[in-house]
This record gives sequence, C-alpha cells and structure tokens, in this order.
Amino acid sequence: MAAIRLGDVAPNFTAMSTEGEINFHDWLGDGWGVLFSHPADYTPVCTTELGTVAKYKAEFDKRNVKVVALSVDGLESHHGWVNDINETQNTTVNFPIIADEDRKVSELYDMIHPNADSNATVRSVFVIGDDKKVKLTITYPASTGRNFDELLRVIDSLQLTAYHKVATPANWNNGDECVVVPAVTNEEIPALFPKGYKEIKPYLRMTPQPNLN
Ligand code: BEZ
Repeated sequence: MAAIRLGDVAPNFTAMSTEGEINFHDWLGDGWGVLFSHPADYTPVCTTELGTVAKYKAEFDKRNVKVVALSVDGLESHHGWVNDINETQNTTVNFPIIADEDRKVSELYDMIHPNADSNATVRSVFVIGDDKKVKLTITYPASTGRNFDELLRVIDSLQLTAYHKVATPANWNNGDECVVVPAVTNEEIPALFPKGYKEIKPYLRMTPQPNLN
C-alpha cells in the first residue's frame, strides 16, 4: 500500500456507514470533503470530537464541505455511541460514521499505525478538494483531541488558494492579509487583485484577502 500524498486522487471505496452505504466519490459529489478517523467508539476524547464536529455542521456547509468519520467498530456500536454523543455533548450527530470492521478503508488510507496501536485507527484527517485530490493530511495520536477550529482555518486557506491564487502566511486567520502566490506575475496582479498589493520583496507580495468585501 503506497502512502497517500498531497495532490493524489483520494482513493475511492464503498463502505457501510450510519447513514447507509457510501461510495466515497459519489458521496463527495462536486464538493469538498473531510474523512477523519478516531480510535474507538465509547471513548472520551472521541466523544468530544464527534460532538464538536456535529456542532460545526453549519461552518462545514458554508464551505461546501461534507464530513465523514470512521473507526473499525461496527454499525451497532456506532448507533449506540451516537446516542451517548448526542446526550453528553448536547448535539445531534449529523454526519455519517463509517463502520470499517474489515479495515478496508483504514488500510487503504494507512490509518492504522501498528507501533502506536495495531487494533485501532489513529486520528487521521484527509481534506479532499472538489477535484477529488488530497489537499491536506493530519495525523494525531489517540491521546490528543483535534482542534476543529484549526481544521476550518486550514480549509479556508486551501479554498483561497484553489479559487483566488493566494497563499496564507504564518498564523493567518480569516480576514488577515494574504500572500500572492509566486506563479502570479506583477503584470497579472491588477486584474486578479484589484484591492492592490504591497511588494515587500519581489518574492513576498501581500494583498488583502480577496474574497472579502
Ligand atoms: C479517547 O478517545 O479518549 C481515547 C481513545 C483511545 C486512546 C486514548 C483515548
């Protein structure tokens, strides 16, 4: 199994989930997607993570991003645990959770790291663009819950690059100045960035965030 790298087409699969069978590429449609794994159902950190993702649905929707979770637990376990997530996190789980009991998807996406735990998936995240290509991968250990504000921040950055030819500098947050990507020439800037730009060095050109009024 080859590692999945940035720019690769996200491998397609068919799997059972809490919302029925999913053909991944069909399910993605022409939007963006997040596929994220957790180590096990009925565990504390995972309970908080899935509750948080449910509460962020409007934020993912705004960005045209569908979210799907995965662990190697079965469907019955997922359904029972969803009741606990809803109860303890004051939310309603509103995205599918893949039941990867045969590890088909976990192995396809290299989500089991045997030297960490041979029986469970690590906390992997794959962000997939509307061209079905992998835009971002993140791997966290079981003991560290992910920061979903950071995930939204990164998706904003990825979409700015995809649609507006800017990159984002260190510690960028929505609304901050962006970096004109090196492939854009100074001659192209007025048409692409009518708000103007600052040239600090020929290779370091800043422009106001292009998708804001
Ligand atoms: C958790 O979700 O809390 C967890 C899962 C596996 C190992 C450690 C923590």
